[in-house]
Amino acid sequence: MIIRYENIARRVAGILPERLKTPLAIRLLLGGGIVLATVVPVVERPADAAAIQQIPWWVSMTALVLLMAYVVAAAGMFLYIYDRKVYDRLRDLTLIATLFVGMVWITRVAVLVWPEISPFVLPVPLAAMLGTMLLSAREGLLIAMITTVAGLLLGFTSGSLVIATLVWSIAAVTAMAFWTERRRVLVVGVSVVLTGVLAAFLATLAEGLSFGVAVQAAGYAAVGGALSAILAYGLLPFFESVFGLTTDLRLLELGSPAHPLMRELMLQAPGTYAHSVATANLAESAAEAVGAKPLLARVGAYYHDIGKIRRPGFFYENLQGGENPHDDTRPTLSALIITSHVRDGSDLAKQYKLPEEIEAIIRQHHGTSLVSYFYSKAAESDAGVFEADFRYQGEKPQSPEAALVMLADGSEAAVRALKKPSSTRVEATVRKVVDEKLADGQLDDADLTLADIERIVKTYSRMLTSMFHARCEYPATAPRRPAHADKHNEPQRA
Ligand SMILES: [Fe+2]
Ligand SMILES: [Fe+2]
Repeated sequence: MIIRYENIARRVAGILPERLKTPLAIRLLLGGGIVLATVVPVVERPADAAAIQQIPWWVSMTALVLLMAYVVAAAGMFLYIYDRKVYDRLRDLTLIATLFVGMVWITRVAVLVWPEISPFVLPVPLAAMLGTMLLSAREGLLIAMITTVAGLLLGFTSGSLVIATLVWSIAAVTAMAFWTERRRVLVVGVSVVLTGVLAAFLATLAEGLSFGVAVQAAGYAAVGGALSAILAYGLLPFFESVFGLTTDLRLLELGSPAHPLMRELMLQAPGTYAHSVATANLAESAAEAVGAKPLLARVGAYYHDIGKIRRPGFFYENLQGGENPHDDTRPTLSALIITSHVRDGSDLAKQYKLPEEIEAIIRQHHGTSLVSYFYSKAAESDAGVFEADFRYQGEKPQSPEAALVMLADGSEAAVRALKKPSSTRVEATVRKVVDEKLADGQLDDADLTLADIERIVKTYSRMLTSMFHARCEYPATAPRRPAHADKHNEPQRA
């Protein structure tokens, strides 16, 4: 059984009293929980504290709790101001809390079992590495800082060791930039070991200890570094599954043509496969241009039309100039068949356990757009047709990546239908597709600015011009198409 974070959160929320269900109350409860969970490991410290500071133990304990609350509140405020999306998503906050508290407890248990343990043999950068892979480098660094501060406050580390562990974590987070490619996992592992060795060696010498001790510390750091890399990679699927997150590694796996759904698409609907690859190239480049997630946009585009494998022959790109089944079908039925590829795609995504982000792109790539070709065809013969019957039943794009796939999809299909795709005509076509989606309100929830939309238009125009350039130069070699074919290639249709 897969334990999903959403299920756990729903159950926890169910037992909370009504007045505690406001977002702020839930965040305060979470913050309080973190403070308690981190301070509990030092309950036996009062005797020492009182002996050294000669003040009642509860005073130092209260100060410790308040200081820890201060750390947690400062980290929360940082997220509130600099990364509002993470702050708003309780799932992400809980993940950060789990990594932070988990790291404190790993250290506590290790010190309990082996009091003389060197801090370098512990997987110091583990939480920061997982935070980076699961959320982003910003969250990874935040976790690195608060775990180091907590380690210091709780007496697990001191002196130069604090700087060494912090530098080690920062170096590991930086090395994660290479993590997006599978073959570089080893490079990251080696970097984490080497940066740990260097930090431990220098910190021990800075403490005034001998070369022999420094070399020993460096050896411990090699173990700690290797342990961090192995655990980070090994625990990743667990965190992905519990928190319902999608990492770049998972996306890379899904982006491989060897995935069963991709293979099926290639065999059943080769035209759709080619269209999806072209859409993916566009969406990925535009994501880079507007600061969205390029890999998510690319993989989302690969799967956006996956529902077409149920009835590939009804979609223009798979007809290869053959007979068009829509010629003998009522427009209402045609529209139903066309629009059902969104629901079929969403069903397949669930069946193959694709990540929620990918399923959302499938569900949202047509938004609630109108299948205008069949609507006009039906309206010609019957004035009483309802526009709503010819609209997609999906939802409007809720993320920049879903919007990029929607616009790439429409632009690619519209430009492919152009007879003479000069750069001016391509740009005019892309602009028309984008303007129509804007005017129809499809981009209302996508979190894109007008400047972003302009960058998207420029990127798609430039790329589509070069993609269709060959046809422009050698029109005589292009295969002849039946007269009705271009008309059927309207962007709204697929
Ligand atoms: Fe499409
Ligand atoms: Fe589609």
